Amino acid sequence: MILAKSKCKKPSFQIMPCQYGSLAMISRDPNVSCYDEHARAYDAYQLAVVPGYREMLEMVAEACRRYLGPSPRILDLGCGTGNASAMLLEKRDARVFLLDGSAGMVEIARAKISRQAPEALLGGRVADLCSSWEQGLGGFDAVLSTLVLEHLPFPCYRETVKKCFQILRPGGWLMGVEGYEEPGSDMQEWFNSQMEARRKEADIELSDFVAALRETKEVHYFTSKEEKAAWWREAGFLQVTVLWQYLCIALMVGRKPL
Ligand SMILES: C[S@@+](CC[C@H](N)C(=O)[O-])C[C@H]1O[C@@H](n2cnc3c(N)ncnc32)[C@H](O)[C@@H]1O
Repeated sequence: MILAKSKCKKPSFQIMPCQYGSLAMISRDPNVSCYDEHARAYDAYQLAVVPGYREMLEMVAEACRRYLGPSPRILDLGCGTGNASAMLLEKRDARVFLLDGSAGMVEIARAKISRQAPEALLGGRVADLCSSWEQGLGGFDAVLSTLVLEHLPFPCYRETVKKCFQILRPGGWLMGVEGYEEPGSDMQEWFNSQMEARRKEADIELSDFVAALRETKEVHYFTSKEEKAAWWREAGFLQVTVLWQYLCIALMVGRKPL
């Protein structure tokens, strides 16, 4: 399970057994299986249908440019098809490790980054975030996680934030984009209605993807930014701040003390 420290610098890709000891179980999680089955449609869907998606990726890359030193080691947590890493590598140098529960998504991410910047690829792992995904990992300057953490039940979320803290170097950053709900606000309904309008314009393959997401009952665990920020602080993060928000989707950052 330990990331190969290859002298030849060949990135290593690993599949970790999930907590149930069987790979198949990873993909039975509807939050992963629906992505696994529709990995090829994912990029087109995100870009066409999800409001603010590209701007969100740009903001994360900008934050990395602003806060991180030269050639930082980055963990792309819940990398999906690698879009956060790809955008980052368009804007600056970095070395990235890709991790997601879906083998199909990780494979696309690996191929994408290998084409774009092969020297930037540290390796990758298929692992469930509610298992021991962090085994053997460490020394990261930042953990990026875009549109993933909202899929984790709260106890798993809190454990994951603690693990991120452990695997960061002192002074390292956690940068998480996720959906929030705020009491009394209609920002989720507003966001969803924008998505629905875009979906109606999208082609049939993308509409199928959306239908599959609904059928497999992809689960979200939403709460307020204040509550999640409190969990980040509890894990040890300082300077916990929201840097960007589009309706219910926000980029929160926090720093491990030096
Ligand atoms: C909306 S996609 C986001 C992907 C990518 N970060 C992006 O911004 O495009 C959610 C990703 O989270 C992954 N995921 C959801 N729950 C997970 C879990 N428990 N463990 C590992 N990955 C998970 C899915 O496989 C999927 O690739």
